[in-house]
Amino acid sequence: MELFNVYPLFEVNIVKGKGCRVWDDKGTEYLDLYGGHAVISIGHSHPHYVEMLTRQLHKLGFYSNSVINKMQQEFADKLGAISDYDDYNLFLVNSGAEANENALKLASFYNNRKRVIAFSKSFHGRTSAAARVTDNPMYTAPFSEGLDVTFLTLNDVDAVHAELSKGDVCAVIIEGIQGVGGIQLPTIEFFRQLRNACNQNDTVLILDEVQSGYGRSGRFFAHQYSGIRPDIITMAKGIGNGFPMSGLLINSMFEAVHGQLGTTFGGNHLACAAAIAVLDVIKEEALMENAAQVGAYLKAEIAAIPKIKEVRGRGMMIGIELDQPVKEIRTKLLYKEKVFTGVSGTHVIRLLPPLCLSMDEADIFLDRFKRVFN
Ligand SMILES: Cc1ncc(COP(=O)(O)O)c(C=O)c1O
Repeated sequence: MELFNVYPLFEVNIVKGKGCRVWDDKGTEYLDLYGGHAVISIGHSHPHYVEMLTRQLHKLGFYSNSVINKMQQEFADKLGAISDYDDYNLFLVNSGAEANENALKLASFYNNRKRVIAFSKSFHGRTSAAARVTDNPMYTAPFSEGLDVTFLTLNDVDAVHAELSKGDVCAVIIEGIQGVGGIQLPTIEFFRQLRNACNQNDTVLILDEVQSGYGRSGRFFAHQYSGIRPDIITMAKGIGNGFPMSGLLINSMFEAVHGQLGTTFGGNHLACAAAIAVLDVIKEEALMENAAQVGAYLKAEIAAIPKIKEVRGRGMMIGIELDQPVKEIRTKLLYKEKVFTGVSGTHVIRLLPPLCLSMDEADIFLDRFKRVFN
């Protein structure tokens, strides 16, 4: 059987990881400034994570959501404390798209409306509603084209007020920091105006923190730099450090109805073991503080390199925009300098390292990047 060929692949077979390093099947070491697409939060194969998952696997790998799973509550308690959202409710699912799909459903059940506002350059996943609110028609199949979505320019406060005042908008969905769109930041003022406009028009505000959340920005959620509190927050990627898991933080204004939302795998025992281990390590090793500190250093050093057009981002979510296409630079970084990075579109290199990247590792990256770029 052949694999369904939807991914363009690099000719590298990664078989081992430790911290911010990975190794291929020939024993070559790579520096990981990509984190498997922002997924690796606490570093590859962290000993506490390995131990928690191994121990859990020896006890119980899975049982369904029809029985009590005390690990879900333990996780919710730790998550509430570290995120400052202790007064919200937690619903666990399996992927970023699934979290957004559920957030949009919940919003529509809540106010009985259909129209959704999303933003230019947005990415929210590839399932039907998540793809429809993504600003790329290539991901939307004809059967979900009918979903009523209006795209507005990011940071255009007037456009938000004009659309929401029509009174028919179910929800606004926005990323804490746009990832796939090239590390574009909603301004603090925009977040605040958006929150006000949603309040005034009974519109649900959904913050997609799938990529920008979980400490990546230097705060637990990127929107927390603005001080606003959304109605629903979605999170995934860093939550399980590679174990497939995602979740929604849900304001208490939403009523939980038995059977309305559900999932077979969401919040299973192994996933909870992974997620609890991740939060333990983020706290113990002060990884949010590290992300803020090392990320600020990286940003400043990159901005000082001549011929860089712009550096954007917060913490360990950095976009380097160049005047030239970045494909060749990224390829050289990987094959010659043994550094994994990401891209956005054609002109932006995206750095999404594990939150534990050290200053020394940042310096190694900077040396290698300068060698390729100059
Ligand atoms: C902001 C954002 N939302 C949603 C998703 C979709 O997540 P998943 O691929 O886990 O469905 C992504 C994935 O890159 C993302 O960056």
